[in-house]
Amino acid sequence: MSDLIETIKKFVQNNRKKIFVTTGIFGGVYLIGRFAKGKLVELQQTMALDQITRENIKKRYQRNQFDCLTTTANFLPILLEEISSTYNVEIITAKLQHTKNTSSQINPEDPEQDLEKIQKLEKKTKRELWEELKIMSFTRLIASVYIINLISLFTYLQINLIGRYVYIDSVITLNHNKTESNSSTSEREKNLSDDSTKGLSTEIQAKYLAFSYYLIHVGWKELAEKVREETEKEIGPLMLNGKITFENLIEIFNKIRSNIEETASPSSKSKKSKNMNKNLNMTSYIINNEKYDNDILATVTSDPKVVIDDELKNLLNETRDILESEDFSAVLSSCLNDSFESLFMILKPTFIDTQNMDANSADTTNAPTKEILLAQMLPFITKSLYTVFYGVPNPFLEIIKDNMMQQRFSAIIYSSFENN
Ligand SMILES: *[C@@H]1O[C@H](CO)[C@@H](O)[C@H](O)[C@H]1NC(C)=O
Ligand SMILES: *[C@@H]1O[C@H](CO)[C@@H](O)[C@H](O)[C@H]1NC(C)=O
Ligand SMILES: *[C@@H]1O[C@H](CO)[C@@H](O)[C@H](O)[C@H]1NC(C)=O
Ligand SMILES: *[C@@H]1O[C@H](CO)[C@@H](O)[C@H](O)[C@H]1NC(C)=O
Ligand SMILES: *[C@@H]1O[C@H](CO)[C@@H](O)[C@H](O)[C@H]1NC(C)=O
Ligand SMILES: *[C@@H]1O[C@H](CO)[C@@H](O)[C@H](O)[C@H]1NC(C)=O
Ligand SMILES: *[C@@H]1O[C@H](CO)[C@@H](O)[C@H](O)[C@H]1NC(C)=O
Repeated sequence: MSDLIETIKKFVQNNRKKIFVTTGIFGGVYLIGRFAKGKLVELQQTMALDQITRENIKKRYQRNQFDCLTTTANFLPILLEEISSTYNVEIITAKLQHTKNTSSQINPEDPEQDLEKIQKLEKKTKRELWEELKIMSFTRLIASVYIINLISLFTYLQINLIGRYVYIDSVITLNHNKTESNSSTSEREKNLSDDSTKGLSTEIQAKYLAFSYYLIHVGWKELAEKVREETEKEIGPLMLNGKITFENLIEIFNKIRSNIEETASPSSKSKKSKNMNKNLNMTSYIINNEKYDNDILATVTSDPKVVIDDELKNLLNETRDILESEDFSAVLSSCLNDSFESLFMILKPTFIDTQNMDANSADTTNAPTKEILLAQMLPFITKSLYTVFYGVPNPFLEIIKDNMMQQRFSAIIYSSFENN
């Protein structure tokens, strides 16, 4: 049996480049719960998995998805802290209030001309503060949606990749023992959960998971700066006392998104890159460059002598391959689409025309909207950051969890060995 494990592992290693590029997220053939395809079907047929074994594996997979959700949820407070201290809109708001008060407290005994000068100067600083507030509040809100999507999908990828090793072992072990012993399946299952991770030591697992350090402490900043650049282009020219409709807002967000996502696509001339969303490449924000693998691990473990062994290297190699695959781009694009859709719904009440609204209807989906001043919009943009990060269950994590492409993607990582 250990020969079989070796064979499968070799197979996975030799085909790691091909596995993703050829799997059928778009074929629509793959369904969740159908844990077998290609080679795996053969393997399972040879071993004649019984219904109970299949059910157990399925349960294990579902537990895995739950782990992904809770792991991501644990990252959110750290990210909120990083984002709100780097893009500190609250300090600008406080400064603005201070500026307002001093200008009204200007000594009236000053000569008329000087007073005008002071007021002009203060007006300018105040204006600048308002402009900064405008850019920053939009930047951090948009960046947060991206960051939550990236950290979520990266976590699904990591945990399901680890899960695959556990899965191979469990399929083999369950069948191995079934033919030899007459004990109940539940007992076998109990035993399995004790030593099921032997395919990948817990140390390797921990080291591998530690690689989310990069995104949480470094990568997100680069992404946020990119968002800021694009936000400045689109929102910078808008007047604070100009009017804006809900439709304008959606249009602006979509423009910012397409600028960010276009530049994140490889500029290859291949016909594949025509479809922007299938080539969205955000790898450089999600995981560090290979040459810094040792540095990252040394930082996280506080051990400068820590080594990246082949098993870990292999996992990281496969992770990078997946992150750069078209399938991952498509999943990311789909989750971002759903997330921004939800963000629009969070922002919509700001625009609701309460006077013309059907008073009997609490449902705002079809409520009429009106135009409002951009400056009026800012407090809602600022506040929405907390809606994005808080909430149990968190609305954005739920959206990603429920995204069909994400579910297929996770199931494929977890159990795909096909090569056809
Ligand atoms: C400025 O005045 C406003 C009321 O006009 C008040 O709410 C705010 O606390 C004041 N800020 C400072 C810094 O004094
Ligand atoms: C399995 O074990 C039970 C007792 O635990 C026994 O009655 C039964 O005959 C055994 N079945 C086989 C196939 O050995
Ligand atoms: C489960 O593990 C216990 C000890 O941990 C052992 O006695 C028992 O035989 C195992 N059951 C099976 C089916 O291997
Ligand atoms: C399977 O059987 C082997 C011995 O043949 C034993 O070491 C192992 O613990 C068993 N595992 C399970 C899950 O029953
Ligand atoms: C994606 O980006 C990474 C890092 O920026 C780069 O190394 C890689 O070649 C890109 N992948 C594709 C398919 O262009
Ligand atoms: C990982 O990929 C690098 C090149 O990208 C290669 O040099 C290395 O041998 C690979 N390591 C393993 C364990 O596959
Ligand atoms: C996301 O939305 C864009 C624009 O509406 C669309 O072109 C793209 O196909 C969508 N992506 C997915 C994966 O559905």
